[in-house]
Amino acid sequence: MSGGNGPIAIETRGVIKRYAGNTAVNQVSLQVKKGEFVSLLGPSGCGKTTLLRLLGGLEQPDEGTVLLSGQDVSGIPAYGRNSNMIFQQLALFPHMDVFNNIAYGLKVRKTPKAEIKQRVHDMLELVQLGDYSKRAVSQLSGGQAQRVAIARALINKPEVLLLDEPLSALDMQLRLDMQRELKRIQREFGGTFIFVTHDQSEAMNMSDRIGVMRGGKLLQYATPDEIYEQPADSFVAKFIGDTNLLRVKVLGTEQGRVWVQAGGLKLAVQQPEGQPALTAGSSASLSIRYEYLRIGEAAQGCGNLLEGRVTDSVYGGASIRYTLDLGGHIRLQASSLYQRGDARYNHGDSLVIGFNPEDALLLPDDPAADREGAL
Ligand SMILES: Nc1ncnc2c1ncn2[C@@H]1O[C@H](COP(=O)(O)OP(=O)(O)OP(=O)(O)O)[C@@H](O)[C@H]1O
Ligand SMILES: [Mg+2]
Repeated sequence: MSGGNGPIAIETRGVIKRYAGNTAVNQVSLQVKKGEFVSLLGPSGCGKTTLLRLLGGLEQPDEGTVLLSGQDVSGIPAYGRNSNMIFQQLALFPHMDVFNNIAYGLKVRKTPKAEIKQRVHDMLELVQLGDYSKRAVSQLSGGQAQRVAIARALINKPEVLLLDEPLSALDMQLRLDMQRELKRIQREFGGTFIFVTHDQSEAMNMSDRIGVMRGGKLLQYATPDEIYEQPADSFVAKFIGDTNLLRVKVLGTEQGRVWVQAGGLKLAVQQPEGQPALTAGSSASLSIRYEYLRIGEAAQGCGNLLEGRVTDSVYGGASIRYTLDLGGHIRLQASSLYQRGDARYNHGDSLVIGFNPEDALLLPDDPAADREGAL
């Protein structure tokens, strides 16, 4: 459930963390509402774990502040905060059974025995391990161990649960099951979860909002739909979902259309909303998602029509992905929905390729982006 306009559970303001000349987290400001499921997503080394550790008080920021329920907790260590963290290596106590692993936090706080018993029971029900309380943790499956770690963290009723890639060690099927399970637990528990992953589909599946990071910076923080449809830049566009990125030169603007040139091609794109008109001669990145590129008959009536040749096709069950050579060193990928009996194209086929101006996005020029074609 999204937190709507509800109160803020945790917030960072301009947080910076440096390690020996390397800025691991660079000026990150982020607000997470109560009850939200937020994912931090980005490539290895982009600062996800460091940001999570700053939120949990395991690291202190060099600059900026962290606020928990509106209170400045910068400088307060992890044990003084009402947040809990689950790590990739779950770090369960191997010599204790399931019950005692989950009860640990309450025992440390000298909670009465009867209350411990009741709360552990409730937690075991929540994570659907009702019959496992006496089981040694060494005799659990990966998914069960995961649930014990979640129960052990949630029994402390944290305001915020921080999870650092807890599913990455699981095989694909179990991982998908645990994604659903974690969402269910979060909904029933009603807590605020911040979840680190470098798997974009995992972030899309689970999150109310996603923060995309790169090089210590938070590039975009928005709902999955917004990030997919309105990526902040070409890195985000390429990292979330599949997209063709073309290096283009702006030729000019007329009647809400921007004309751009890529290789020998002249293409029309819708003028980006709320942005100033692009100056003729400037360069930009053009993003066209694989599914918005239409081929063959489906291309009829599109605002941009091109010609190309099929150089590869990959059958994906419900869709087929074609690689298309348009000449001038431009190769595009198109993903077509496919049902048995539909026409299929073969290597070497020449066909019409189309896309509509409103289905492409003009993004800021980024020389570091992996793009197709020359100006
Ligand atoms: N204790 C440390 N000392 C020095 N540098 C560190 C330390 N912890 C992290 N870094 C550096 O800070 C940067 C961010 O690291 P971080 O662990 O936050 O990345 P990450 O996004 O979690 O990556 P991964 O997906 O691989 O877990 C990296 O360049 C890393 O080498
Ligand atoms: Mg990490």
